Amino acid sequence: MGDFLGYLRNMKGHRLTIKRSVTMNNQQTVVSPDRACYQVRVMNESRCFETNSQNNVLASMGWAENSPVPVGCKGGGCGKCRVKVTSGTYLSKKMSRAHITPRDEEQSIVLACRIFAQSDIHLIPLEA
Ligand code: FES
Repeated sequence: MGDFLGYLRNMKGHRLTIKRSVTMNNQQTVVSPDRACYQVRVMNESRCFETNSQNNVLASMGWAENSPVPVGCKGGGCGKCRVKVTSGTYLSKKMSRAHITPRDEEQSIVLACRIFAQSDIHLIPLEA
């Protein structure tokens, strides 16, 4: 068990989220974190970006040269990363009402830096 926890601590660049734990032979066993990978596709963009439920959707594109979605503050404050999600499911964190209205949210218009994919996602970048 100690070796396994050491292995987890040394996984640089990965944010660790333990989804659940199970009991086996009266010992608590750590179950692997959610590592499901999803694809992000952007309209009129030939590249496909890989993401997971632990990183926001903008982060999957923000590392790329010439990101198809503008990268600004990366924290939900500037509105540069406004997108319309045309398919897929996601979880979202609180978004600034200065950039995303309740009506926007109903129409799946969100800030890419504040959403987390739960499936493959298709989106259209919007002007901020
Ligand atoms: S990058 Fe500024 S709101 Fe997303």
